[in-house]
Amino acid sequence: MIRSRLDTDSEDYRLRREAMLTRLAELDAEQSKAVAGGGQKYVERHRARGKLLARERIELLVDPDSPFLELSPLAAWGSEFPVGASVVSGIGVIEDVECVITANDPTVRGGASNPWTLKKSLRAAEIALRNRLPYVNLVESGGADLPTQKEIFIPGGQIFRDLTRLSAAGVPTVALVFGNSTAGGAYVPGMSDHVVMVRERAKVFLGGPPLVKMATGEESDDESLGGAEMHARISGLADHLAVDELDALRIGRRIIASLGWRKRGFVPDGPVREPVYAADELLGIVPEDLKVPFDPREVIARVADGSEFDEFKPLYGASLVTGWAKIHGYPVGVLANARGVLFSEESQKAAQFIQLANQSRTPLLFLQNTTGYMVGKDYEQGGIIKHGAMMINAVSNSTVPHLTVVMGASYGAGNYGMCGRAYDPRFLFSWPSAKSAVMGPAQLAGVMSIVGRASALAKGQVYDEEADAAMRAMVEERIEAESLAFFLSGRLYDDGVIDPRDTRTVLGLCLSAINSAPEPEPAGFGVFRP
Ligand code: COA
Repeated sequence: MIRSRLDTDSEDYRLRREAMLTRLAELDAEQSKAVAGGGQKYVERHRARGKLLARERIELLVDPDSPFLELSPLAAWGSEFPVGASVVSGIGVIEDVECVITANDPTVRGGASNPWTLKKSLRAAEIALRNRLPYVNLVESGGADLPTQKEIFIPGGQIFRDLTRLSAAGVPTVALVFGNSTAGGAYVPGMSDHVVMVRERAKVFLGGPPLVKMATGEESDDESLGGAEMHARISGLADHLAVDELDALRIGRRIIASLGWRKRGFVPDGPVREPVYAADELLGIVPEDLKVPFDPREVIARVADGSEFDEFKPLYGASLVTGWAKIHGYPVGVLANARGVLFSEESQKAAQFIQLANQSRTPLLFLQNTTGYMVGKDYEQGGIIKHGAMMINAVSNSTVPHLTVVMGASYGAGNYGMCGRAYDPRFLFSWPSAKSAVMGPAQLAGVMSIVGRASALAKGQVYDEEADAAMRAMVEERIEAESLAFFLSGRLYDDGVIDPRDTRTVLGLCLSAINSAPEPEPAGFGVFRP
């Protein structure tokens, strides 16, 4: 059992906790923007039409009092589009079956898909496919966001491709159509295994009446072109005609209930023990200044069952903590940065540990707080590149499921070695304290300054020191802003920013979802350069 050394009476703890609570208040404020959707005017109009909001639809679809793990609620943060990207996505439980659920938010620009909506939707489908989770779409969308069509039209085809690939892989797809689903959007019900349409509300056609008039001169109306009744009685696109929204949700639940769905992965047995230390104390662990190291065992002690952790090679490569734990009864191998920098020993230890986890088919949890691999003559001569490459090789080719939590820094190739987004962890969440970039802002500005000075010297020019200072300040500020958790989450570089206190719950939900799929094939690693 980990013995915590966290002094909850210390000034350091108090300051860290206060800083984290401030960030969490900011997170709440940003998330409530997503919940507010298109704002009061559009929400009221939507209600006046007798319709439910996207989140209300989800709430009525999932089992009462079951958790809904919302994904990427901050999508589009920092962009020209409203926070949330006009779609809600997440993992919810319907009739005891974990499903990926997405719901268009029709109060935001008619539920039209902008580039961030597309990224979020594609990520949802990817999660459904990799984890073998039935995929339920609650559809009501104006299709492509027309002003940004160039960003989405061509890549957007993947939405429909993924639906049919899910079906081919044996993962059921369900479309509950509440409203507009025209043009490309018509292929969402078109490609889904099960289709429910709400009477007098669903409108599913390749082209609406004006377009048909332009194309062929034919006079038509919404109902005869794409109404729910027409699709249920004539075209056969609708399998079920729902009398209203609640009926559609009820039918959706019945469809999932009748799948006879069985999870294929590991199911923990026996009672699960809570950690000995309180999750609340996770608020006071990460220092505001990420240059100050912290012991990740303090985090593991508040996330792992019984605060138990069997540490592997604790005396070797001590900047990286590795070892075995359980979370909600699921065994995991943990890799956690302790002092930020990764040296050759840490890299070799990581590669060995990842191989061991693959041998025992144990999922891996990466707890990131790294400034990257060590630079400098001694380290280059000691082979830091090949050892870092070995760790990145092991992470890339490991086939056990990976989960990543960015607790603090995630800089340079450390982001890669510790299973950053490009290394395909099944899920990746950030704490509000997370920061990620190619390097720290001060270092980056400093490097640009040194390069600029050398370039001026080579051209025989006098270096403008005043302009250099201004450039450094500006670059530092911009890189800092672009390194922050909200910004990165806005770009879908994670699956969401979470409250550190929820880490154990979120990881437990993810581990359960992962185990909907059978165990993946064993790994074949490439050539290691020792
Ligand atoms: N792209 C960009 N903005 C869109 C949009 C789209 N595809 N669809 C709707 N919007 C905007 C509207 O311009 C409007 O903006 P405003 O309030 O600032 O004027 C806002 O979203 C709400 O639209 P509105 O038409 O008032 O909502 P509605 O609920 O009455 O109707 C639709 C929703 C989707 C039925 C209707 O807007 C529509 O037909 N849109 C075009 C659909 C289409 O042809 N899409 C192309 C698919 S490839």
